Amino acid sequence: MGRLDGKVALITGAARGQGRAHALTLAREGADIVAVDIAKQIETVPYPMATPEDLQETVKLVNDLDRRALAVEADVRSAEALAAAVERGIAELGQIDIVSSNAGIWSLGALHEITPEAWQDSLDVNLTGHWNMIRAVIPHMIERGRGSIILTASVNAIEPCWNYAHYNAAKHGVLGLMKSAALEYAPNNIRVNAVSPGFMKTKMNEFPGGFAFSTGRDDATLEDHEKASYGYYALAGRGRLAPEAVSNAVLFLASEEARDITGQNIPVDGGHLLIPGFNGNPIYDEQP
Ligand SMILES: NC(=O)c1ccc[n+]([C@@H]2O[C@H](COP(=O)([O-])OP(=O)(O)OC[C@H]3O[C@@H](n4cnc5c(N)ncnc54)[C@H](O)[C@@H]3O)[C@@H](O)[C@H]2O)c1
Repeated sequence: MGRLDGKVALITGAARGQGRAHALTLAREGADIVAVDIAKQIETVPYPMATPEDLQETVKLVNDLDRRALAVEADVRSAEALAAAVERGIAELGQIDIVSSNAGIWSLGALHEITPEAWQDSLDVNLTGHWNMIRAVIPHMIERGRGSIILTASVNAIEPCWNYAHYNAAKHGVLGLMKSAALEYAPNNIRVNAVSPGFMKTKMNEFPGGFAFSTGRDDATLEDHEKASYGYYALAGRGRLAPEAVSNAVLFLASEEARDITGQNIPVDGGHLLIPGFNGNPIYDEQP
């Protein structure tokens, strides 16, 4: 007996990383999966995004668990594309019980130097994408009088960080959107919650700019990046967290065990948000 037997979960950003881990974790507990991903590059994103082959691999891995899966290439910036994904999921798998709205992008730049294009892409994918996802699935969930929606935010929905104001602003908005949706759809027995990952072992931060960001060194390598990530966590022995760490929180929020929980955010951050912290960019006077 799985915790999600007979359920169908739609997951955005499912081609790789956390989205793929969520798909496999939910499938292992019995859910069929609608795997949605843009599966192509957005120009302002400084690392390679997922490919159609990545998305097909997620479907294959779900099928290997004896669960059904659909691959849907769709951009969360398009309300129409998400509505079509929902329609196809219902037509081919029967219904949608769970949505993990997980797709996201990251880029870097000082607040006043972020290009208007990068700003807009970040807001469109990281915030409006969740709004699009909610409005695509909500009529179906209202009709059924049930549903669990889980938005992926970030620790940067709670605390800012240098050099990505567009991401911080969008992610802060995700928690506001989540709470509004939780309140508005509570009478329909639809739960809306969020997960907030810390510093994750995914391709989103594996590029030279990401290595420089975590280490403060332009010549830093993936190995340096990995080492630096240990400084991010309070809990012992934690470097970049495995995507499955977040999947377990998604599974909990999707399951009946969380049937009375709505409007909440679960940081999966190894205690990062507890750390009082140092100024990472201190200004010294002449005689420190
Ligand atoms: N990696 C981290 O350290 C970290 C930390 C906190 C929060 N997050 C969040 O976790 C989520 C998952 O990221 P990840 O770490 O797995 O990174 P990732 O880059 O490996 O995966 C993100 C996936 O989203 C897809 N995607 C991006 N834009 C899309 C769009 N417009 N439409 C549809 N799909 C799109 C990508 O193709 C990719 O497959 C994101 O929301 C991200 O902001 C990540």
